[in-house]
Amino acid sequence: EQIKKGSYDHFMQKEIHEQPHSLTTTMRGRLKDGGVLLGGLKEHLKTIRRCRRVVFIGCGTSYNAALAARTFVEELTGIPVTMEVASDLLDRQGPIYREDTAVFVSQSGETADTLLALDYALENGALCVGITNTVGSTLSRKTHCGVHINAGCEIGVASTKAYTSQIVAMAMMALAIGSDQISTQARRNAIISGLTSLPSCVSEVLKLDAEMKDLASSLIDSESLLVFGRGYNYATALEGALKVKEVALMHSEGMLAGEMKHGPLALVDEILPIIVIATRDACFSKQQSVIQQLLSRKGRLIVMCSKGDASAVCSNGSCRVIEVPGVADCLQPVINIIPLQLLAYHLTVLRGFDVDQPRNLAKSVTTQ
Ligand code: AGP
Repeated sequence: EQIKKGSYDHFMQKEIHEQPHSLTTTMRGRLKDGGVLLGGLKEHLKTIRRCRRVVFIGCGTSYNAALAARTFVEELTGIPVTMEVASDLLDRQGPIYREDTAVFVSQSGETADTLLALDYALENGALCVGITNTVGSTLSRKTHCGVHINAGCEIGVASTKAYTSQIVAMAMMALAIGSDQISTQARRNAIISGLTSLPSCVSEVLKLDAEMKDLASSLIDSESLLVFGRGYNYATALEGALKVKEVALMHSEGMLAGEMKHGPLALVDEILPIIVIATRDACFSKQQSVIQQLLSRKGRLIVMCSKGDASAVCSNGSCRVIEVPGVADCLQPVINIIPLQLLAYHLTVLRGFDVDQPRNLAKSVTTQ
């Protein structure tokens, strides 16, 4: 086992630091001649373009990855996207139609709730697409078509490199579906160039490791942590909070910043740490105003912003700032989650918990 970990102490740590490589393998051979080539989807692109809606279905981190993809899938394809947590779709027996494209996202391809939701969607006649890391898994065998994310084996119970590769696989899927639209050609070109430079930006953001360890040591005794995001980075808030609760065993909630005034604001005081994700995108000015409102209530803020934006997000210097490299706005969640993965990792080690086998959890949840 130690040999497989190489120079790292834990699989989670190794898998976080592997991401420049895992993202490269996710994209390998798929970005061609200024376009995207996904062999597993090619035959079905016409049907997907004609579908009435895309329904993303998954659990946990895989659901969060789909949520991160939702906005750019809508933008690049013009198809409405709805989100389903697999167990909730089953509980409700929610409507799935033959005109739907149901996209199932699962690292293992063996999660019971996701597979039962797949059976349900197949019975209802939807076109079923699988996004998985596991070649030969039940998910990849039962879906009509799909994309393997090729992130390499993930051993840590906390999913890290699979999350970023899932987002990139779905970005390529959105580019392929939308490739017949002339009006979005310039946007697609910008995203493709963003994808090409993504591994080097990930290498850069990984240099925040020591800074995140230092931040973790300042949070070691906190009882709770809130993470506020919106737009492309609502998913980042949910996923960052999930990582912290799952491995560091600290209560943590990801929240939609637009909902702050509708309840969560009551929690704000000088003790509760709050991470606000405020990197540059169309929601930036709204996040600036969220930060102002939190500061005026003396909130204890940690702000994640784009490089060079420290004074734009916190002019009085009272927040702790994490500066990350900027990429195309819709790919920014791939960068932004990495400091939060590092934070969860270091918090876990400092709090003395088991990083790779958190209590009560299994890597793949194969029972309902
Ligand atoms: C991720 O850190 C979790 N361990 C968990 O939420 C996981 O993502 C979920 O159980 C779904 O697993 P899957 O991707 O293999 O379907």
